[in-house]
Amino acid sequence: MNTNTAISGTSGDRSQATLELKNVNRGFGDDWSREEIITDFSLTVHPNELTVIVGPSGCGKSTLVNLVAGFDKPDSGEILLDDKPITGPGHDRMVVFQETALMPWQTTRANVVFGPKLRGDRSNADIEAEADQLLDKVGLSDFKDKYPIQLSGGMQRRAELARAMINHPLVMIMDEPFRGLDAMSRELMQEFFVRLFEENRRTNLFVTSEIEEAIFLADRVVVLSNRPTSVRQIIDIKLPRPRDFHMLSSTEAYEYKREAMELLHEEALKSFKRKGDQSELVEAFDKRSE
Ligand SMILES: Nc1ncnc2c1ncn2[C@@H]1O[C@H](COP(=O)(O)OP(=O)(O)OP(=O)(O)O)[C@@H](O)[C@H]1O
Ligand SMILES: [Mg+2]
Repeated sequence: MNTNTAISGTSGDRSQATLELKNVNRGFGDDWSREEIITDFSLTVHPNELTVIVGPSGCGKSTLVNLVAGFDKPDSGEILLDDKPITGPGHDRMVVFQETALMPWQTTRANVVFGPKLRGDRSNADIEAEADQLLDKVGLSDFKDKYPIQLSGGMQRRAELARAMINHPLVMIMDEPFRGLDAMSRELMQEFFVRLFEENRRTNLFVTSEIEEAIFLADRVVVLSNRPTSVRQIIDIKLPRPRDFHMLSSTEAYEYKREAMELLHEEALKSFKRKGDQSELVEAFDKRSE
């Protein structure tokens, strides 16, 4: 295998996978305590595009990620990767979570090589050479022998990206990967990640609760409805690539942000209205904005 090609994504590693969710439903609990979390959720994640899902905290984003990753199964509906149903976890879908999942007792490099070595479908020399190139790419060459606790939050996320990329997944699934980082590190990670995507264009499903992050990264922003969650609206982001942060001050970006905020605000009001004890607050808000 030519690892250079795989890493730079100039051809071989460019994923053309299509991920489809068709009328997916998932709820938890039995009988009276049952709550529907995801309802009639349909979405196609196209290759070569960065699809970013944005929804309020607690609306069911991680539930959705778990379904796509194969950690959980829908009650009904279908999830297909290149027309094949997803039946469980697999290294064709790599997830980067909001919490670090690095093994604390292993060095950064050992964490990166762990998955492919365990599978044993490539030679160790090949895996190690690719790990070194990937660690270089994510700027961690000098930290490969350090343990996760010795890395900053941003470095840990970059190590996780390397650990995911070494598996050459068809789809990268990111569940609020930069949540919890300080503002500066978060911005640096967004910039780093958008470059990485622009280089390899791997099929990507990115989940966030930050509208600006969504607009900066995305080709399509999928705004979720409140629980039970489904797709409320898809906003096509036509900002040019390569992206840079100045684009967020453009009129276009402002319009995208306004549209997304209005939709999320409507959804938040709906959830307030459902909770009877909050209705006076909502009425007061509605009157104020008349
Ligand atoms: N295995 C489970 N059993 C019971 N309830 C669950 C389970 N998984 C998720 N839930 C419920 O589903 C709802 C949505 O949770 P989820 O973690 O998917 O939301 P989220 O949008 O990712 O939230 P956050 O912004 O906090 O990450 C929550 O009310 C949660 O309690
Ligand atoms: Mg979550």
